[in-house]
Amino acid sequence: MLLIFLSSLFVSFGQMGNLKEVVKLHDNNLVEDTSSNDFLQQAYPSYFDMVDDGSKFKGIINIKESVDILTMEKKVGDQTDSNKLKTINVNDYGAKGDGNDDTEAFLKAWKAACSSKGGASMVVPESNTYLLKPIRFSGPCKSKNIIVQILGTIEASNDLSDYKKDGRHWLIFDRVQGLVISGGGTINGNGKIWWENSCKIDKDKPCKDAPTALTFYNSKNLVVKDLNIQDSQQIHLSFEKCVNVQASNLKITAPEKSPNTDGIHVTRSQNIQISNSVIGTGDDCISIVTGSQNVQATDITCGPGHGISIGSLGAKSSEAYVSGITVNRAKLIGTTNGVRIKTWQGGSGTATNITFENIEMENVANPIIIDQNYCDQHKPCKEQKSAVQVKNVIYKSISGTSATEEAIKFDCSEVSPCQGIVLQDIDLKLEGKEGEEEQVKAVCTNVKVSNIGTVSPQCY
Ligand SMILES: *[C@@H]1O[C@H](CO)[C@@H](O)[C@H](O)[C@H]1NC(C)=O
Repeated sequence: MLLIFLSSLFVSFGQMGNLKEVVKLHDNNLVEDTSSNDFLQQAYPSYFDMVDDGSKFKGIINIKESVDILTMEKKVGDQTDSNKLKTINVNDYGAKGDGNDDTEAFLKAWKAACSSKGGASMVVPESNTYLLKPIRFSGPCKSKNIIVQILGTIEASNDLSDYKKDGRHWLIFDRVQGLVISGGGTINGNGKIWWENSCKIDKDKPCKDAPTALTFYNSKNLVVKDLNIQDSQQIHLSFEKCVNVQASNLKITAPEKSPNTDGIHVTRSQNIQISNSVIGTGDDCISIVTGSQNVQATDITCGPGHGISIGSLGAKSSEAYVSGITVNRAKLIGTTNGVRIKTWQGGSGTATNITFENIEMENVANPIIIDQNYCDQHKPCKEQKSAVQVKNVIYKSISGTSATEEAIKFDCSEVSPCQGIVLQDIDLKLEGKEGEEEQVKAVCTNVKVSNIGTVSPQCY
């Protein structure tokens, strides 16, 4: 009660603004972000007519819901004739953006936004850098629409003692619905101190998890767009137990040597659309793990990094289910894998109904790979009697160059061989030797592959 009273008090200090201004702000930012337009034209000169309507996976894809989220932002706009969005500027709640800690101010601003009945636009102003400790932006909120406009830069505290309470998350949105987060600004995880202390960099250090820069947990109807996310402590952007997400126009960057800095991670989430994004980090560009259904990644440019991954799945004898994944129109440049499915031995469950199509590889090691003997630990992994079943995977229109001789590697499980694997119109050549024939090969174990169209190289 006291909290609500205080919050509304703060709101009344905040600047009032109607949605028209907010929308205008939005448009300006979209126009300013020319890099994403360039990226589209350069990477996909010939693909713009191909749109996957998801009809292959009837029953798991709720097309209506996808449409709903597409129109969500418009709906936010439609409601404003009667309901004005309150503008909540973090500076009005005490944030300074001068290199001192602004955590309390952001929390107060969030409370005001979250408790504002008619919806709110929480603004992080331009040309300031706001230093934040770990923050939990909790719902459920009174507001049906919250827009978080990040125009300036948010930077993570690099004092490890700030993360004692929750070492896994820096910025987390928990139980929110109808949130739009955008603005063209930057979220900087300031991860150097974490990378230096990683056991993957310094073998004498214990293996510990580091925070994810931006997490959405247990949330619904989200739009995350027009943001730069950089140098995360570990994963950059994670959707966990989320439903109906549109993530687009994101630029995610970290050094090639930064450990475990996945770009976008999807776990236990459904109806997730990721599009028009450029991701270059030290780990997976996109990783999709257990409990994820109906995930589409479209128009993605990756590199450096470990490529686009489904998995890892089945670690520590766990049960994993992933289905309805489509990666359409991607360009991978200099990554250590292209499109990968990775499972540990000893797991169970299924990874099924997966399509990788219209993918360009440029100097990619392992462009197409299923690795059912994945083992990402110091000790070698023991042979086990079960595996996550990999089934119904289509690779279609994949071309370009491989950095290694093994352009295709299907290392499937002996106990549950891969089923329903299709290669259609595949043209992979060795990097630097594009004119010569037969320099790359497909290494295929415990799998039967159906070839359609021209497939090179082929399994023998
Ligand atoms: C995979 O697709 C097939 C064919 O459309 C469908 O029958 C099956 O239920 C799907 N499997 C899962 C786990 O979604």
